Amino acid sequence: MTSLAGRSFGGIYTVLKTKVPVTVHEYGDRYCLIGPLSYKTAPMEVERLEPPNKEIRETLETMSNHGVKYLFGRWLIEGAPYVLLFDTGSVANKLDEWKGDLWNVAGIPSPPSDTETNEAILFGYLVAWFLGDIAGKASISLTITHSFNDPNHETRPAIIAHFHEWLAGVAVPLCKKRRIDVTTIFTTHATLLGRYLAAGSVDLYNSLRNFDVDHEAGKRGIYHRYCIERAAAHCSDVFTTVSHITAYESEHLLKRKPDGVLPNGLNVVKFSAMHEFQNLHAISKEKINDFVRGHFYGHYDWDLEGNTLYFFIAGRYEFRNKGVDMFVEALGRLNHRLQAAGSPVTVVAFIIMPANTHSFTVEALKGQAVTKQLKETVSQIQDRIGKRIFEKALRGHEIDVESLLSDEDKVLLKRRVFALKRSSLPPIVTHNIAADAEDPVLGQLRRLQLFNNEHDRVKVIFHPEFLNANNPLLSLDYEEFVRGCHLGVFPSYYEPWGYTPAECTVMGVPSITTNLSGFGCFMEENIENSEDYGIYIVDRRMKSIEESIQQLADQMFRFCSKTRRQRINQRNRTERLSDLLDWKRMGLEYIKARQLALRRAYPDSFDEDDEDLGADHQHVKIPKPLSAPGSPRFRGANGHEMPVDEDDEEEYPFPVIVRRKNSTREEELLQEGDIASLNKL
Ligand code: UDP
Ligand code: G6P
Ligand code: GLC
Repeated sequence: MTSLAGRSFGGIYTVLKTKVPVTVHEYGDRYCLIGPLSYKTAPMEVERLEPPNKEIRETLETMSNHGVKYLFGRWLIEGAPYVLLFDTGSVANKLDEWKGDLWNVAGIPSPPSDTETNEAILFGYLVAWFLGDIAGKASISLTITHSFNDPNHETRPAIIAHFHEWLAGVAVPLCKKRRIDVTTIFTTHATLLGRYLAAGSVDLYNSLRNFDVDHEAGKRGIYHRYCIERAAAHCSDVFTTVSHITAYESEHLLKRKPDGVLPNGLNVVKFSAMHEFQNLHAISKEKINDFVRGHFYGHYDWDLEGNTLYFFIAGRYEFRNKGVDMFVEALGRLNHRLQAAGSPVTVVAFIIMPANTHSFTVEALKGQAVTKQLKETVSQIQDRIGKRIFEKALRGHEIDVESLLSDEDKVLLKRRVFALKRSSLPPIVTHNIAADAEDPVLGQLRRLQLFNNEHDRVKVIFHPEFLNANNPLLSLDYEEFVRGCHLGVFPSYYEPWGYTPAECTVMGVPSITTNLSGFGCFMEENIENSEDYGIYIVDRRMKSIEESIQQLADQMFRFCSKTRRQRINQRNRTERLSDLLDWKRMGLEYIKARQLALRRAYPDSFDEDDEDLGADHQHVKIPKPLSAPGSPRFRGANGHEMPVDEDDEEEYPFPVIVRRKNSTREEELLQEGDIASLNKL
C-alpha cells in the first residue's frame, strides 16, 4: 500500500503517478493508493467502485458508521490502480483529540493555526485507523498477501505500507506505537529543514554536520512539521530517500541514515518509428514559433526557422533552490557573448514558474490577437486571390498580377500592418505579477537589462504559471512545450532528484543540471562524458559561484554553436538514455526496499540475514558514444593547443563533501547583482 499526500503537480505527484504501471504489474489488484480526498478534482479522476475485498469493505463500513467519508475506486490513469481517498473534513471534530494523542504517544506538538499540519494529522489518524482495522482481520482471510520465499514456512498475509513525505508521515509512528501488524517504509523526497536552509543564504552542504536541528527548525516555525518528518523517518521499518545527496542530508538533519536510495523513474514511451520524437520536436516547435511571432510582433526581425533556439527552466518558484538566479545571470553573459561573436543565433529563454498574478497582461494578449488577425486577413485575401485567378483562367483571360490584390484588400492589409506597430519593447513577462516590484526574477532581468531589445541575442519570457493546452497565450501542455524546446536549463542548488531534466532526457531534449541535484549525480555516476549525451552538468560543489555561472554560460554558448545536424545527433543520443530512467529498471530498487521491510518485520520467515539494500555490484558506466566526435585535445604539430571540440567532455569530480569557496558572501553578491565584487573574490 502507498499512502500519499500532496498537490496534483510537482515531482512527488509525478513519482506516484508514473510508478503505478510497474507496481500494478507486480501486485495487480492487491495494490491500493491512499490519499486525501479533494472533491474538486476526484470526480474527474476516480471511478467510484465498491471495494471488491470483503475485509476492506467491512473496515470502511465501520469507519463510515463513525462518520468517516471516503471515496474508493479506480484512479483513471495508466494502470488504473485502486485508490482510497479519505475526506479529512469529515473527521474535523476529532482534531483536538487526535492532536492531544499525538503529543501523548509521540511527543509531537501541533500549533492550532497550521492548517497543513492539521490536515496531515487527520489524514494520518485515518490511515492508522484503517490499517489497524485491516491488519487485525489479516490473519483471517485477507487477500492482500505476500508469499514469503521459503515454501517450508507458512504462507502468511503481509501488508506493506509505503509512505511518501512528511505530509503522509503521521501514521508511521502510530503504526509503531499501536504495534499494527504491517511493515512500513517511509520515503522522503527532501527534508523540510534542508529545503528551508538552502533557500536562505546558508552554505548548506558544508554545514550539514553542524546544524542544531531543533533550534534551526524552531527558528523557522517548522519545529512541529520537522517532528513529524523525523518521527516517520525513525519509526519506519525501512527509511529511504531519492538520491545519495539527500541521503547524506537526511543522515545529518533527520539523524537516521537511510537504508537505501530509491531513484525516481519515468514511463518511457517507445515509438514504433525510431525518429518519431524528432518529428514531434518539429511539430511542437512550430507551435512555440507561433507564440513567439505574436509575442514579439513589431520587433520580430530574426530568423525563426534555422537560427532560433528555445531554452527553458520550469518548476516550483524557488529562486535560489531551483537555480533561476544562476540561469538569468548566465543568460546575461550569453547575450553579450553572442553579440560579441556576431552570432546569427537568437535564444528565446522561457522561465515557467508559478507566482501570484492578476492574470495575463493586456500587452501579451494583444500580441497574440494582432498576429491572429493578420493571419486571418492574409488567409481571406489568399482565398479571394485564388478565386480571381480561377475565374480569369477559366475565361481564358490574361492574368495580370498587379490587379490580383484589390484596393479593399490593400487597405485591409495596411490596417493590419499598422496594428503591428508598437512603441514599447516586447514584454519580458506574460502576466501581471502581484508583487512586481519585489519579484526576484523580474528584479534580476531588469538589473541585467534583459529587456528584449532588438540588439539582444537573448530574449526572455517569464511565464509565471504552469502550462496548459487551454491557456490562451501559450496553448501547449508542458510535455508538448518541452518537446518543442532545444535545451532545458536547471542549475539547481537544492534538488533531491529533479524530474524536469529527467523528463527532457526521455523526450530526447538535452538539458543542463548540476552535481547538487540527485538526477545530475545519478547521470554522472552512470555515464561517461555525459555532455556528449546532451546531459550538461554544472559543477556547484567544487567551483565558486562565479565559476559555476561562467561554466553554465560556456555550456549554453557551446550549445548555440552547434549546427542543426549536430543538434539532431545530440538529441538522438539523449533519447538513447531513456532506458536508464525507465521505471522498469528504477522500480527494482522499490522491490528491494519492500523485501527488506518484510525481512525486518518478519525476520523468522526468512533464512538469510542479508539485510543490505545497496548491495555492492559491479558498476559499469555508459561509455562515450561512438558517434561523438573524437577529442582533439592534444598539441598540434606547431606546439599550439588545438581547439577543444564543442562536443568534447569535461571531467566532474564526485566528492561527498562540497567545498565551494566563499559561498555565503558569493550568494549575497549574486543576489545583490554585485558582479564586480563577485569577480574580485
Ligand atoms: N511541471 C508541470 N507543468 C509545468 C512545469 C512543470 O507539470 O508547467 C512538472 C514537471 O513535469 C515535473 C514537476 O513539475 O514532473 C517538477 O518536478 P521536480 O522534481 O523537477 O521538482 P519539484 O517541484 O518536485 O521540486
Ligand atoms: C527534427 C525534425 C527535422 C527538423 C529538426 C529541427 O529533427 O525531424 O525535420 O529539421 O528537428 O531541429 P532544430 O534543432 O533546428 O529545431
Ligand atoms: C521533491 C524534490 C524534487 C524531486 C521530487 C520527487 O519535490 O524537490 O527534487 O524530484 O521531490 O522525488
